[in-house]
Amino acid sequence: MLEEIEQLQEEAVAAIQGAVDTVALEEFRIRFAGRRSRLRAIMSGIGDLSKQERPAVGQAAGKARKTIEACLDQRGRSLEEAARESSSIDVSVPGRRPMSGVLHPLTRVAQELVSILEGMGFTVADGPEVEDEYHNFDALNTPADHPSRDLHDTFYLKDGRLLRTHTSTMQIRVMESGPPPVRIISPGRTYRKDTVDATHHMVFHQIEGLCVDRGVSMADLKATLTAVGRCVMGENTRIRLRPHFFPFTEPSVEYDFSCGLCLGDSGLGDSGLGDSGLGSDPGGPLCRLCKGTGWIEIGGAGMVDPAVFEAVGYDPEIYTGFAFGLGFDRIAMIRHGIDDIRLFLENDLRFTRQF
Ligand code: PHE
Repeated sequence: MLEEIEQLQEEAVAAIQGAVDTVALEEFRIRFAGRRSRLRAIMSGIGDLSKQERPAVGQAAGKARKTIEACLDQRGRSLEEAARESSSIDVSVPGRRPMSGVLHPLTRVAQELVSILEGMGFTVADGPEVEDEYHNFDALNTPADHPSRDLHDTFYLKDGRLLRTHTSTMQIRVMESGPPPVRIISPGRTYRKDTVDATHHMVFHQIEGLCVDRGVSMADLKATLTAVGRCVMGENTRIRLRPHFFPFTEPSVEYDFSCGLCLGDSGLGDSGLGDSGLGSDPGGPLCRLCKGTGWIEIGGAGMVDPAVFEAVGYDPEIYTGFAFGLGFDRIAMIRHGIDDIRLFLENDLRFTRQF
């Protein structure tokens, strides 16, 4: 028995010292020191031995166990160290800068507009880009045979839903969801069939605004738009309202901000926009931004049509409201001197990284 123990110990030590990696070492640990190892069997059988044999065998087995365990520990440590050395860190290598993202120029302008309007008491309402005809057209006083649907051709899904052609859908969704007063804005993506070129795209971006209460007037609309224009385009920005038609507002306007780049012919002074590279040389060709008119078209607006209030169950005898749609692709282009709207949607990192 003593001889067997000694032999076991020798065999184990030789194997462990020759273990090439931690996997092999673990196998030897199980084989020589594990619960089912021969050594364990010997140790648990000690009680059955005669009184004379017991102390010597016990001692030898205990010693063998200690030796094997020490050997396992030592080989484990040296394998670990070898691994560490072979993958050791070269502290002199220059660090690698983590990739950090930037906000898309459209996101930035949207956030800026939202914060301006939030400061005026509006709250953001978010809604779906995939819409039904009811919210995009019918409830906005635009029945199926209405000619103004022609200007809002869009992408239709098989189930009859469509990609919204404007954010005015959110007027309906918000008014359906609760009683007046209402003061919301809703930024987002909108879609229309269009021939894509440097200034037109089938995907564009708007912020809808809606304010409904007792006694809201066109003067409130104009003041709101003027304030937004000044905040976003510079403090000398002026606003121009032109009569227009929308089925869901009455009266309706299109509105322009004064061109902060070439200042048109109107001598409006510095808007604080700086030189974005889009302006014209004095005496050179017309300003590429406003085409020499001095004005930049921003969006449509008006007083909420009573038919819209009826569609959502508001009493048009008690409440009035204004609504506006503000296209901000153009504002982002002006702000950053971008001369092609397609760049916004191409996901080209060389473009987006610049901002
Ligand atoms: N939804 C209109 C458009 O996209 C703009 C608009 C919004 C007009 C709100 C009036 C009121 O053309």
